[in-house]
Amino acid sequence: MNNGYRALQLSRFAATFRDATELVELPLRPPGPGEISVRNAWCGVNGIFDTQIARNAVDYVRVRLPSLTGVEAAGVVTAVGPEVDDFRVGDAAVTVRFTGGYREANTGPAAQFARIGAASPEWLTLASTGVSALLALEHVGAVANGQTVAVSAAAGGLGHLIVQLAKLRACTVVAICGGPKKAAFLRRLGADRVIDYQAESVREVLDREFVDAIDVAIDTVSGPTFDAMLDNLAVGGRLVAGGAAQDLAGRPEVVTGPRIVHKLYYKGASVRGFMNGLLPALWPDARRRLFGLYEAGQIAVTFDEVPFCGIGRIPDAVEHLLSGQSMGKVVVDLRTIDASP
Ligand SMILES: NC(=O)c1ccc[n+]([C@@H]2O[C@H](COP(=O)([O-])OP(=O)(O)OC[C@H]3O[C@@H](n4cnc5c(N)ncnc54)[C@H](OP(=O)(O)O)[C@@H]3O)[C@@H](O)[C@H]2O)c1
Repeated sequence: MNNGYRALQLSRFAATFRDATELVELPLRPPGPGEISVRNAWCGVNGIFDTQIARNAVDYVRVRLPSLTGVEAAGVVTAVGPEVDDFRVGDAAVTVRFTGGYREANTGPAAQFARIGAASPEWLTLASTGVSALLALEHVGAVANGQTVAVSAAAGGLGHLIVQLAKLRACTVVAICGGPKKAAFLRRLGADRVIDYQAESVREVLDREFVDAIDVAIDTVSGPTFDAMLDNLAVGGRLVAGGAAQDLAGRPEVVTGPRIVHKLYYKGASVRGFMNGLLPALWPDARRRLFGLYEAGQIAVTFDEVPFCGIGRIPDAVEHLLSGQSMGKVVVDLRTIDASP
């Protein structure tokens, strides 16, 4: 379609992303002053965030129905409006703004797009998940070279990039994941201690091998993993809370225990929230650095091996990510008509 495009629309709030969304066809309006149009080639899947959005459970995003959904997509510029200096037709461009992701095309302010080397899944992932990895580790985690860094969901889209960035800083990396395939992947990435929670207890390993030793912990799982990280923070350690995948299935787990103040102040330690969407001012510099690392061959993006082709496969991709079986970044190829793997 040259003058129209398909998008996933959030039509209702529901327990699952699939039930909340439907495929719609929309006209592609020409760009106005300061705007560009982009025909998307790839989108990145954030199944946990997507599901929370479908439930209207993301506190800092107020969704008014109907709404498009999805966060990041990369494609090629097809039209440029007046007063746009930094894009030309044919440039590869990415957006990481909510509602920009799950659509075959997009017309919007040029300021909401960034130029990338190619409309490929690698550049898409670096510009979105890569930026999250870098800012979680450096801006919020305040990592220093050579420190000890623990990461949960370490074989996932976000986690495998954090592991690589921490290794580039000569850190000792403790990588937590579920399953032997993910564990082998993390060893190949250079993780120093891989904890496959299906084979051994995260709590027991951290209590035994990393007593008061974790300088930066980046957790997106919550539950006992968060607790074990918190209890083993080093003096001045930072626990970065970037998600709570474990709580997706229901309400946050209610636990009783001593207030965590007692675990923090003696050590001068802290728990810090991380939300990439709140840090847009830091994205350009983070991207510039990540792109440089990628072009220098110092960082690589791994994709999950299950291919998803066509915008209609996005709910399948979301559910695949939620299954816990995916490894690396989950992306959807928007260039093709919907096809099963
Ligand atoms: N705060 C931010 O700005 C920000 C930005 C990007 C991503 N995130 C968060 O970071 C996490 C990783 O995101 P991603 O897109 O890269 O996903 P992902 O890591 O590729 O996939 C999710 C992984 O989380 C683990 N997990 C643990 N408990 C789970 C559960 N109950 N349901 C599903 N998965 C569970 C699984 O790995 P194991 O079984 O190996 O643990 C699963 O493979 C997500 O929680 C996401 O919301 C946060």
